[in-house]
Amino acid sequence: MKIGYVQTLPEFGQKEQNFKEVNRLLSGVSADLVVLPELFATGYTITSKDEARALSEKKNGETALFLEKISVLTGAVIVGGFVEKDDDHIYNSAMMVYRGQLIGMYRKIHLFNKEKRWFSPGDRPPEVYTVNGWKIGMMICFDWIFPEISRALALKGAQIIAHPSNLVMPHCQKAMVTRCIENRVFAVTSNRIGEEKRGEDHFRFTGGSQVTSCDGEILCSAPERETHAGFVIIDQVLSENKMINAYNDVLLDRRPELY
Ligand code: ACM
Repeated sequence: MKIGYVQTLPEFGQKEQNFKEVNRLLSGVSADLVVLPELFATGYTITSKDEARALSEKKNGETALFLEKISVLTGAVIVGGFVEKDDDHIYNSAMMVYRGQLIGMYRKIHLFNKEKRWFSPGDRPPEVYTVNGWKIGMMICFDWIFPEISRALALKGAQIIAHPSNLVMPHCQKAMVTRCIENRVFAVTSNRIGEEKRGEDHFRFTGGSQVTSCDGEILCSAPERETHAGFVIIDQVLSENKMINAYNDVLLDRRPELY
């Protein structure tokens, strides 16, 4: 499987421009899985619930249409983040599309910082979707600090975790090595770059998107300050072997009765 990320520099609120930039970075690319950043179409630093609502879309909105289009152009499963509107709730969500069809959605369970003021926390367990025989789960950015999410996806059979992100702390890229080793899964962390200064907030995003193997090896990674599309060929089936030596299976050796 050829899997990778597109690391972008979104302009806040400029969806058309941000779509164009993803198109440019993906021009001529064909792949099996492409992961875009969290909130890649809108930018991150929302300042009010009204602003979140104004940026929000239904799951068949313009961001879905764009993702469907690039899934056809690249031949890939595409995962990307968006501001989701569903009844009275606004979620920080990701969707997975393939061949122009919506495959599945994930609503960020662990909201970061002031996201708690405008987004509702995800209300559904993370799921693994089987597409073309590949088993792919999603989590979003700050979910990395809660090992339960990647563990839950591994227990549900995920081979690869697609991880749209807008990282502002320096730890996630290293932590994903552990998340991948402890579950023996591959992960694609797609981050953004640049700064956003809006309202009281000033965020600097850390770039360094990466593909991490089920052995914890960083197979490809992006620079900290430049847009980049990076891809690597993996054998996703390796993630189905949970043994780290002749005696230890990282899932079966757990002792949940003791903790
Ligand atoms: C984050 O969850 N976007 C830091």
